[in-house]
Parts: sequence; structure tokens; C-alpha cells
Amino acid sequence: MKIIVIGTGYVGLVSSIGLAELGHTVFGVDKDHHKINTLLKGQEPFYEPDLGRLLKKNLKSHRLFFTASLAEVINKAEMIFICVGTPPKKDGSADLTYVKQVAQDINKYAKTGKVVITKSTVPVGTGQMIEDILNQKNGRRFFAVSCPEFLREGKAIYDFFHPDRIVVGAVKESTGYKVMNLFAKIKTHKIVTARETAELIKYASNAFLATKISFINEIANLCERVGADVEEVAKGMGYDKRIGPAFLKAGIGYGGSCFPKDVRALRQLAGGSGYNFRLLKSVIEVNSRQRKLFIEKIKRVMGSLNQKTITVLGLAFKDNTDDIRESAAIDIVKILQKAGAKVKVYDPEAMVNAKCLLHKKTVFCESPYAALEGSQAMIIATEWPIFADLSWNRVRVLMKKPVIFDGKNIVDDKKVRKLGFKYYPVGR
Ligand code: UDX
Repeated sequence: MKIIVIGTGYVGLVSSIGLAELGHTVFGVDKDHHKINTLLKGQEPFYEPDLGRLLKKNLKSHRLFFTASLAEVINKAEMIFICVGTPPKKDGSADLTYVKQVAQDINKYAKTGKVVITKSTVPVGTGQMIEDILNQKNGRRFFAVSCPEFLREGKAIYDFFHPDRIVVGAVKESTGYKVMNLFAKIKTHKIVTARETAELIKYASNAFLATKISFINEIANLCERVGADVEEVAKGMGYDKRIGPAFLKAGIGYGGSCFPKDVRALRQLAGGSGYNFRLLKSVIEVNSRQRKLFIEKIKRVMGSLNQKTITVLGLAFKDNTDDIRESAAIDIVKILQKAGAKVKVYDPEAMVNAKCLLHKKTVFCESPYAALEGSQAMIIATEWPIFADLSWNRVRVLMKKPVIFDGKNIVDDKKVRKLGFKYYPVGR
């Protein structure tokens, strides 16, 4: 099948490459000429494991093409995926400017009707809005379909080929099965349902995962007061098949381009539909407070942070990505600097992105050890595995004071305490 994918961000590029790898002919479209030129050279525009290899492979097999001009390719395919950004507006609702612009462009250039599939996370009812924009001219029949993505950054390629489920929402069931058939080679649970139901499945899934994280973070805060160990509590909870072990890792709160945005958007969507989604208000509050509680713990131990040298290991919002959007690590660096600390930082992938966001007084170091030299405290702010496996004897010598604040509970507390470190995790 010939397919157009509009947008070459995390969702669009992974979807383009994934669909090409499934054997389809895919035209990736993006208005950003620089991005298109980068992709045409087989260069990945962001870090994602295995992305570069599959990009090169499918370019070489002529199943994958990129262009900045939708007009050039729109009449070569009958299915179009919309994978453009839906950033949050000030009130937290999803900004559909880019989605609307794409719908207007399709309306302008398409000679015949198409199936227009929204993969971007969009509020319930967006499919109808797209269809209203498209079906303005006679003689062409467009079908707007919802096919939400469930890709995790850092595991996006794996998630594309091994999804827990594929959801397609359409007004006409036959159209839904036509879209589902694009993924025939992928063996997983497949749900063809109403369009609004598919749109809501995405928001509900992300909001529930965020709720699990805020829940375990509240339990962690309680553990610190009653002397329990949140890691053990999570383990004991997780054996219950109705709860499951995933997303029960306490820490400094969730970040990224999805959870914060999607939880706020769902709350707005509910409010706009006359329903006060109280639980989500708490999920959001707990998450933003988690960073502050972590800083309060650091201040309790270290006293004034003014003129203190503190190392923050990790800048990305999680491991295996260079993405720093709504990263708790970035928030913590800024709070420390506001308190007068001299902050030295290191991240395996996210340094370039972080340099655009952090104050120029931030000391960017080439290795975790360089960042730890002369430091009076180490903060682990991203769950990169290398931060759990540092050469602790070397670290002990490098640091001015052997103090570890583990915002992600990834360090072996017995090991470092035996070496003389003062170790402060979350909820343990
Ligand atoms: C998420 C959803 O997992 C994915 O299905 C959806 O398509 C997009 O949003 P992503 O944002 O890439 O994916 O990252 P994820 O792995 O879900 O982690 C999100 C945040 O939660 C990160 O900051 C991570 O550190 C944090 N997290 C995750 C926890 O604090 N505890 C956990 O147990 C799991």
C-alpha cells in the first residue's frame, strides 16, 4: 500500500520507518526542509535506538521517501497519516493548529477522497473536525480515522513492532478494518471501534499510567514517614496481576512530551464536557510537588545550597532518549541554581538539547566522573543505567563530600553505604 505520513517527529518518523519495514511504500512529509535533508542523507534527527539502521535500510530499498512538499506526493497514496504535534495551550488543552493546517493542505491538494488517519494524540471529536474540513468540496469523500500511537521514547521502534494492542477508530467499520490491515504482519490484540472511543483510549491509557506513577510517589512519601521501603511495597503490589509491576517506580516525578501534556489535556477535555475529573487534578499536583519535596530533602541534609558545588547526573526526562521536554532533571538543575548552587551536569545523550535550555553558568562535563570532581553532592535525576554502575571507589575519591541523592532509586544502597557514602533515595 502507498502511504503518506505527515510529520517526521518521534511519532511520524517511527511510523514512517515502521510502515516501510512492514513492506509499504511510504512518503514522509515535513515542512522543515532541514529535517527532510537530514533524513534524505539517512541521518536520524534525534536519538532513538535502532532508528538510524532502519532509516538507512528502507531508504536503500526504495520503500521510504521524504519530501517537504505534500502537493508533490498527495495523489500518489490513498492513505494519509497525520503525525504532527499537538502541544498544550496555556489552559492545558491540546493545540490543534498543526492538525487543522494539515487537513486544509490535504483539502487543497487532494484530487480524490482519502482515508486520513490521525496518529497524533488528539482530543475526542478531532476526527469529526478533520472530516468537516475535508468534505467541503463535492465529488470527494474523505474518511477520518483515529489510530493512536502508544510508543515510548527510547523504545519506540520496539513498541511499533511489538505493541500491546493496535487501536483503530472509524465511523464505518469497513474503513477501520482497511486501516487495521496495514498492520496485518503485526500479531497483537487489534481493536476496531468508534472513532471517539479510540481517541479516548489514548488519553485514558496515558493518564492512567501517570496516575500509577503519582500514586507510587505518594506511597513513597508515606514510606519515608513510616519507615517502609517503597521498592519493596511496589514489589509486593506488583505481584497482584490486577496491579502489575510496571510503572510503580517511585522517583522525582514523570516528565516527557506526553504524560504532562496528555493528563492536562484530558482534564481540560473533561471540563469542556461538563465533567470535573478530580483525580487528574491530584495526579498533576502530586507530580509537580515531587520535585519540590526532593529539593527540600537536599536542603535538610546540606543546609544552604548557596555556593555549594552539586552534580546532577541525567538531564533527559528518562533514560535512552535525548529528549528533555518537561524533564524533572532540568527543573531540579534550575531550582538548585536559583538557590545559589554551582551545578555540574552530565547526560549521555541530552547535553546538546539541555545547553539550549539551561543557564550559561551550568557546567557541562564530558563524563560523570568529571561532573563529580570536587562535588559536595551527587543527584541522580535520570534513570540511565550507567549511573547505577559507576566506579564507586573512584567516585569516593573524586567527590569533596560522599553524598548521593538518588531521585530514581537506581543505586545499590548497601554497596555505596558500605563505601562510606551517605545515600538518600526516594521513599526508602
Ligand atoms: C509515554 C507512554 O509510556 C507511551 O505509551 C505513550 O505513547 C507516550 O507517553 P514516554 O513519555 O516516552 O511514553 O515515557 P515513559 O517511559 O512512559 O515515561 C514517562 C515518564 O514517567 C518518564 O519521566 C519516566 O522517568 C517516568 N516514570 C516511568 C516513572 O517515574 N516511574 C515509572 O515507573 C515509569
